[in-house]
Amino acid sequence: MSIAVAIDGPAGAGKSTIARAAAKELGFIYVDTGALYRSIGLNAIRKGVDLTDAKAIEASLAGLKVELSFDAQGAQIVLLNDEDVSSFIRTPEVSMSASKVSAVPAVRAFLLDLQRNMAKTQSVIMDGRDIGTVVLPNAEVKIFLTASPEIRAKRRFDELIEKGEDVKYEDVLADVIQRDYNDSHREIAPLKPAEDSKLADTSGLTLEESIQLIINIIKENTK
Ligand code: DC
Repeated sequence: MSIAVAIDGPAGAGKSTIARAAAKELGFIYVDTGALYRSIGLNAIRKGVDLTDAKAIEASLAGLKVELSFDAQGAQIVLLNDEDVSSFIRTPEVSMSASKVSAVPAVRAFLLDLQRNMAKTQSVIMDGRDIGTVVLPNAEVKIFLTASPEIRAKRRFDELIEKGEDVKYEDVLADVIQRDYNDSHREIAPLKPAEDSKLADTSGLTLEESIQLIINIIKENTK
């Protein structure tokens, strides 16, 4: 029987790093659903779509093909009309665009089956904002992973600096706060813990401790 683990939480809580490591340890497939919204955000930027115009965002989906595949190491690859866009979707500009397009109901509907199908035949750890509430409401384990905005901004800032991006901490923090607001105040599938989710706050934990915490929660709840 396949097992589904839903991990939701705000931007920069370390969901992807922690979920990826836990999936590796447990032999599950790791699905990063934020990458799907990012690919739609990238497509909208490339097409010059007005990101304040929900109708224009919806129209940008016409004829669009988004697929997920995995490389030999199990790393996720996002294909946008057959192009591997994985390396173009991590910029601050795409982050903000992804947050905007993800508030459009047609975008969420467009990605729903793709996400659900991933969990049908294999054990998955899927991370996002609405996995436990909307995408996989029957997931065996639901975790709401969070940390304070300042700590999340510091982590993202360090990541971007390491990649050679020219960013200021204050701007990253403002982005985190703005995206938290967008993600939790949108009408459709807002970011909120599922009623039956376990809360995991990683503010005072190292990465290793956070990974272990998540693995323990999953093991305890799938015995
Ligand atoms: O997790 P992330 O930062 O890569 O997500 C990018 C954006 O996509 C984020 O602002 C919220 C949105 N998102 C969403 O609405 N639902 C998901 N399941 C995953 C991401």
